[in-house]
Amino acid sequence: MNKLKVMTIFGTRPEAIKMAPLVRKLQEAEGIQSVLCVTAQHREMLDMVLDLFQLKPDYDLDIMQHGQTISDITVKVLKGVEAVLQEVKPDIVLVHGDTTTTFVGSLAAFYQQIAVGHVEAGLRSGNIYSPYPEEMNRKLTGHLAQLHFAPTEGNYKNLIKEGIGEEKIFITGNTVIDALLQVVKEDYVFDNPLLNKIDYHNKKVLVMTCHRRENWGEPMENIFKAVVEITEKHREVEVIFPVHLNPNIRNLAKNIMGDTKAIHLIEPLDYEPFANLLNKAHLILTDSGGIQEEAPALGKPILVLRTETERPEAVEAGTVKVVGVEKQRIVEEVSKLLSNSSEYLQMEAAVNPYGDGRACERIVKALKDYFKLS
Ligand code: UD1
Ligand code: UDP
Repeated sequence: MNKLKVMTIFGTRPEAIKMAPLVRKLQEAEGIQSVLCVTAQHREMLDMVLDLFQLKPDYDLDIMQHGQTISDITVKVLKGVEAVLQEVKPDIVLVHGDTTTTFVGSLAAFYQQIAVGHVEAGLRSGNIYSPYPEEMNRKLTGHLAQLHFAPTEGNYKNLIKEGIGEEKIFITGNTVIDALLQVVKEDYVFDNPLLNKIDYHNKKVLVMTCHRRENWGEPMENIFKAVVEITEKHREVEVIFPVHLNPNIRNLAKNIMGDTKAIHLIEPLDYEPFANLLNKAHLILTDSGGIQEEAPALGKPILVLRTETERPEAVEAGTVKVVGVEKQRIVEEVSKLLSNSSEYLQMEAAVNPYGDGRACERIVKALKDYFKLS
């Protein structure tokens, strides 16, 4: 019997982290032929994840260029994926989440009438410009897909509200927890001397990341200035900021934060050291999507540097607080947590609404059932 040909497409760091454990499961699954196509919308940050999970793409479109616009990515992914699909002729294409690779990869498959499975389906902020362009990317992908792998019950309900048939939606948990559980270790020792030297017990280590397009410009300036002010007010704080490789973000971070001794601007970390750094942090400040899922699972309070979130589950559980992008509010919210231990302790209670580490297993089973392989 011919094997079911499943082609996975991804291109950026977060997609790679969340799809790597799934690709490994597909490779091991009986009756499935797994084909991996990376767009390399990210280059170095993608390769770091491929190396960690020892994945070798069958196709690498290598599209990244510095200063790329959303249209540049769209055009290159559409043409590149078209050619790969014509050659591979998969039974189904799997995409993840909400990047331009995700949406355009799905569109390319739709144009060839190839089924699409959407992993991390059904997240919605309700605002098409925030996160931008991710909210629209995931809505459009949702309408191109035949199978929807929703991490939570809330994500399932969002899809039902948009008219997706319940028989096409599978609640699986988020594959990020599968990845996280593979790399976090309590006795972890970093290779990086700076990260090993930091006194995680006597200092309050604040880990931050910031990269979202809708935060470029003034909001990001506000955020960076707020962090400088926090280190001036709270001498016990040490900040570690692995800066995204986008030059706009790097230049701004260096200009505003570069001279502050308590702030360490470092290169993006491999996933294993980064996840373990989160696990040692006192507090996390971020506008990232994935980190909003990882930090609650590790019991780490996290303040989200955005005006809304598509991940309300951990906000409802009390581990995540959305604090916006105004300087004064950010300083106040961080100060409150640094000086009020009862509020901190409440946020520290570990909750994990995003899964049990078996999401990939459920996705593979759903695929086998759908294609009657089981
Ligand atoms: C992209 C996604 C965003 C996702 C984010 C994760 C889109 C439109 N945006 O945003 O949804 O949350 O990835 O990080 O799909 N760069 C490098 N090396 C790398 C990666 C990036 O040099 O490995 C630099 C390049 O100059 C590149 C720039 O960063 O042009 C921006 O990359 P891009 O993928 O366009 O946007 P992100 O902001 O990373
Ligand atoms: N991450 C990483 N190294 C870093 C910073 C982040 O491996 O230096 C991981 C993080 O744990 C999470 C993912 O990258 O799993 C988040 O990626 P990003 O913030 O780029 O994208 P988003 O989640 O906002 O889409």
